[in-house]
Amino acid sequence: MKILFLDHSGVLGGAELSLLDIARYYQDSCLVVLLAEGAFKTRLEQEGIPVQVLTSQLTGIKRDSSFWQSLSSLGQILPLIVKIAQLSRNYDVICTNTQKSMVLGAIASLISHRPLVYYLRDILSADHFNRANLWIAVAIANTCVAKVIVNSKATQSAFVAAGGKAELTQVIYNGFLPDRFQQPPENAIQLRQELGLEGQFVVGSFSRLSPWKGQHVLLEALTHCPQNVTVLLVGDALFGETAYVERLHQQVVELGLGDRVKFLGFRADVSSLMGVCDLVAHTSTAPEPFGRVIIEAMLCRTPIVATAAGGVLELIEPNRTGWLVPVNDAVNLAGVINECRIHPEQAAVIAQRAYQYASHAFHLDETCRKFSQWMELVKSFPNF
Ligand code: UDP
Ligand code: GLC
Repeated sequence: MKILFLDHSGVLGGAELSLLDIARYYQDSCLVVLLAEGAFKTRLEQEGIPVQVLTSQLTGIKRDSSFWQSLSSLGQILPLIVKIAQLSRNYDVICTNTQKSMVLGAIASLISHRPLVYYLRDILSADHFNRANLWIAVAIANTCVAKVIVNSKATQSAFVAAGGKAELTQVIYNGFLPDRFQQPPENAIQLRQELGLEGQFVVGSFSRLSPWKGQHVLLEALTHCPQNVTVLLVGDALFGETAYVERLHQQVVELGLGDRVKFLGFRADVSSLMGVCDLVAHTSTAPEPFGRVIIEAMLCRTPIVATAAGGVLELIEPNRTGWLVPVNDAVNLAGVINECRIHPEQAAVIAQRAYQYASHAFHLDETCRKFSQWMELVKSFPNF
């Protein structure tokens, strides 16, 4: 089975890290085609996964670009489509990992007569996309795609609610290798010292800095916690959200949080950093399609609190494997932080249970097994 993976992004977002995990499985029989240079390409190269970057003007099209803006870019992207079609002739299936790449992949697949799979990792709703882009995504998926693999039931429901054909969809959760998240306890002690966190109750956020990831809600929650609670904001603005980053810095000053908040930027050592946290907080203000960070915290045996929306509801069993709080509710979030601080032994029991659960229910082997099963089926679909 030879797969051509297509992703428009050059950055290391959750969609790209998930693709990396699957591409590793197909290392000897795949090509990852990207439409931008960046850290994702470097990472694929480091891991020996074949990658090719096709550059274009496409990165100018945003999720909220108008239909006409998107259409006017078509002239610039036609050569790109032709190139993708040419490359795909050497592969059995084209698997697209993002909405933009799905649009290009769809046209390329019509030229090269290769079946197209859309790994849908977004909640297709007005929270995340404008109407025209939603319509385009659903219309193309319904007509050109052999299978829409979705990263959660929430993503599946949103696709169907937006007019997508339910029978096209198949849920395949993201998978993880538990061993990659294990750290010797002395690492955490040393890292705590390096970061000046001794004696602190540390709450970590491990999401890119973006308004809908809700870091501002966590900062507000911190004002309802005692002085020995510190927040680590791990992650950077990956898609140009610099105004939000400035707003967060300003919020820290306005709320007088001073050195109780540490901005660590994008880090490659997420599991080590999760190891120094007493709690991981996932604070998305719009439904999260899946939320890799939640399973990663579980695998690090760090307790997790997350906002109750989207795919998150499929990952956490409240009060058994983590905590759920309403969206945009800083007071409730602070309540969980304080509860965890006051009853660490109870939090440790929940974290241990979550570890057991996640290491079985979200194992990468199972994700790759299901994915390859579907790829074999798609390959044998008639009419391509
Ligand atoms: N991540 C990372 N370094 C950082 C912040 C986040 O490697 O500084 C990773 C994190 O471990 C997770 C991914 O980025 O694997 C984010 O994926 P998620 O599904 O949680 O959210 P997304 O950003 O894709 O919406
Ligand atoms: C997207 C989603 C995120 C999901 C990731 C991997 O980036 O925003 O929720 O975990 O894809 O599927």
